Amino acid sequence: MDSNPLRDGLRIEPAPGPTILVIFGASGDLTRRKLLPALYRLARGQRLPHAFSVIGVARTPFTDDDFREQFRQSLREFARVEAADDVADSLSARLHYIHGELDDAALYDRLREKLKAIDENSGVLFYLAIPPSAYGTVSGRLGDAGLSTQAAPATWRRLIVEKPFGHDLDSARALNALLHKHFEEDQLFRIDHYLGKETVQNLMVFRFGNGMFEPIWNRRYIDHVQITAAETVGVETRAAYYDSVGALRDMVQNHLLQLLTLVAMEPPISFTAESVRDRKMDALLAAQPLDEGDVVRAQYGPGWVDGKEVKGYLQEPGVAPNSTTETYVALRVSLDSWRWADVPFYLRTGKRLPKRTTEIAIQFKRPPLEIFRRARVSSVAPSLLIVNVQPDEGISLRFEAKIPGTRMQLAPVMMHFRYGTTFGGEVPEAYETLLLDAMIGDSTLFARHDFTEAAWALISPVHERWSASRESRIPAYEAGEWGPAEADRFLATEGRRWRTL
Ligand code: BG6
Repeated sequence: MDSNPLRDGLRIEPAPGPTILVIFGASGDLTRRKLLPALYRLARGQRLPHAFSVIGVARTPFTDDDFREQFRQSLREFARVEAADDVADSLSARLHYIHGELDDAALYDRLREKLKAIDENSGVLFYLAIPPSAYGTVSGRLGDAGLSTQAAPATWRRLIVEKPFGHDLDSARALNALLHKHFEEDQLFRIDHYLGKETVQNLMVFRFGNGMFEPIWNRRYIDHVQITAAETVGVETRAAYYDSVGALRDMVQNHLLQLLTLVAMEPPISFTAESVRDRKMDALLAAQPLDEGDVVRAQYGPGWVDGKEVKGYLQEPGVAPNSTTETYVALRVSLDSWRWADVPFYLRTGKRLPKRTTEIAIQFKRPPLEIFRRARVSSVAPSLLIVNVQPDEGISLRFEAKIPGTRMQLAPVMMHFRYGTTFGGEVPEAYETLLLDAMIGDSTLFARHDFTEAAWALISPVHERWSASRESRIPAYEAGEWGPAEADRFLATEGRRWRTL
């Protein structure tokens, strides 16, 4: 166990009561890559409930032993745990498996029996790690089988729903309506894994746990905000999903709008799920409809990334040869509010960019009076606050300083806070935080139904416009470049530049 005096006491860690986690899609990719390794790390940190079991559910005809073997493999592959240790052994003994068709009522009878046999007085967390097309079926079957009913506080029933949550406004509304047939809103936990990232949570602490930033966090002092989520990977093996979705719906509708609202929200009155999510909702509702000129899209062509030659998007396996799916998107979002009027939020995300990095940069206004002009300083660089979401988690402040010497010369300098150096130890993975929060019943870091709908309401018209335009090609950028020239011009027309990362 890590022990670092700086870390101790920083977290208020309520312990979850007895829990059975039921994973639908237990033989799938998400379970192997993320969920099982996250459970192992939680167990290692002694943060799982004392009474805890997992029931894997899927079509694959596994036995309990097969599922346990899959757990071992996933630890080797995705958690770099080579040899089984006591923690893995003890968790493995608590894994169970049942198989069947997700729309077969008999499967849910078997599930009910299994839950009873393990502990009928336990809370149950259902996890939908399955294709979105099956969300309605499973939640409906759970409801019909009486498995969504909470008889007593200790026997709570909760449902975690993975992304994508719908593919446009209508489908998101329909999905919310389906889920609400059997589950109350406070039983629903819609995952956006960005909210589980440590730096993203810290954004709230930074803003509302300090007195010095909030007074300048507004249009009077801030010129604009840039939010970047850059990836070096291409579409990988996910063309079947990605080619019908694209960057706008894959990254902006959820992750980037979550980051935007955390920067833009008013202070909540308390750190509770409803208060925080109400204020985020206000911020999102202030976003003005996106016009054609507010969005740039593009697709990567062949190029070089990390010293390796890579294919263009259209040459990737599984991508339609004439696909116009965007792998890069840049947007200008304007918030009509007293705090943010005339402060643009620029968002950009793309695959096959030169570097994997996610950051939020708050650029402050220049001083109103350039009193150092006589020092032949052509222009004073604006102060900048950078939240490094990943991979080098931390916060940096750039400001002007005098270069030592007899002459008055200025240069921008940096002040850094780095998680790694300050706190040491491992930063928990988003899925650890989110699984634990759902077991505790804290939905602060999950998307509420109205947020998912408002996010789609903002994004869907852009996508509909693209679909209607029937363009046979969209702008291209070379893999390994920072997006298309159009995205640079887009900011240049407003006298601004994307940050060089
Ligand atoms: C997922 C997207 O939600 O987020 C992927 O579907 C993307 O396309 C991923 O690669 C990025 O997540 P992270 O945590 O690596 O920034």
